[in-house]
Amino acid sequence: MKKIPILIDTDPGVDDFFCLAIGCAFQDLFDLKAVTTIGGNNSTDVTTRNALDILKLFHREDVTVSSGADRFLMNEFGEPVAKFHGINGLGNVDIPHTEKEKDPRKAWDRIHDEAIACEGELVVVTVGPETNLALALQKYPDLKHLIKKITVMGGSLTTGNVSEYAEANLWHDAEAAKIVFDSGIPIDMIGLNVTRKAPLKRSIFDGLTDIREDVKDVMERLIDFRNEEAMHDAIAIATLVDDDIMTWRTTHTSVIDGEDVRRGMSLTDDTKEPNSRVAEEIDIERYYDVMRRMISQYTEKPVR
Ligand code: RIB
Ligand code: CA
Repeated sequence: MKKIPILIDTDPGVDDFFCLAIGCAFQDLFDLKAVTTIGGNNSTDVTTRNALDILKLFHREDVTVSSGADRFLMNEFGEPVAKFHGINGLGNVDIPHTEKEKDPRKAWDRIHDEAIACEGELVVVTVGPETNLALALQKYPDLKHLIKKITVMGGSLTTGNVSEYAEANLWHDAEAAKIVFDSGIPIDMIGLNVTRKAPLKRSIFDGLTDIREDVKDVMERLIDFRNEEAMHDAIAIATLVDDDIMTWRTTHTSVIDGEDVRRGMSLTDDTKEPNSRVAEEIDIERYYDVMRRMISQYTEKPVR
């Protein structure tokens, strides 16, 4: 089966760690072209450092990292979201540092380069603020014709988390999210309404053997740090492994930007031309099956 070329734009980030774990694990399914980084959970310097070290942990330093913007389109970054991601962005869990440097290309140029190279087949997974993708769309008018789909962890069909209306990724850079959602590129939006329903618990390891101790230890400590809450970003990318994890509704989705009290809110309107699928329900056991399959790829024995 032909591999899916993907690029992950991320702000690692505890749940971003598990998104990258999936992107790195399913090597028969994904051709992971690049990781691009943004701020949000922490500064872009920290998230870039974390992305490089996470790829080392997963023995995927074949994948290179391009760092992105050091501010949102209209605002500076806020303080690190230490409550949910720790001071170091990885739940205050130290993982071995790589000597490998990032790719010199900036994220917005890298996204365009990879989209051209994939000849319109690239799937972009955004699990942080969408600043880099918005900048790429602004700089390269042809880009909207070169990306096959955007899988977004963001928004919500019910309530938000940074406000009653808005989810963090869309709220941090609502202007960028509006550019992305209005781009015409097909979007799969996996929002808090479904991700909240799928906590990740230590019991996910039950029955799994030969897992690399270093990987299992970090994963368990991150799960503990988040008090077994949902790893939102992992759920988003898991839909590329198994589309039937979600029940989808095809609709039109837009994002409220500016100073509106609902800033960052994702709005659906079934009367408008569809531009997206939004996840309405989640089959939690199918998601957990993808997570167990992912973990099983990180064995002491070399895979294949
Ligand atoms: O609202 C959840 C999202 O915000 C996740 O991507 C998390 O990593 C944070 O970036
Ligand atoms: Ca994230």
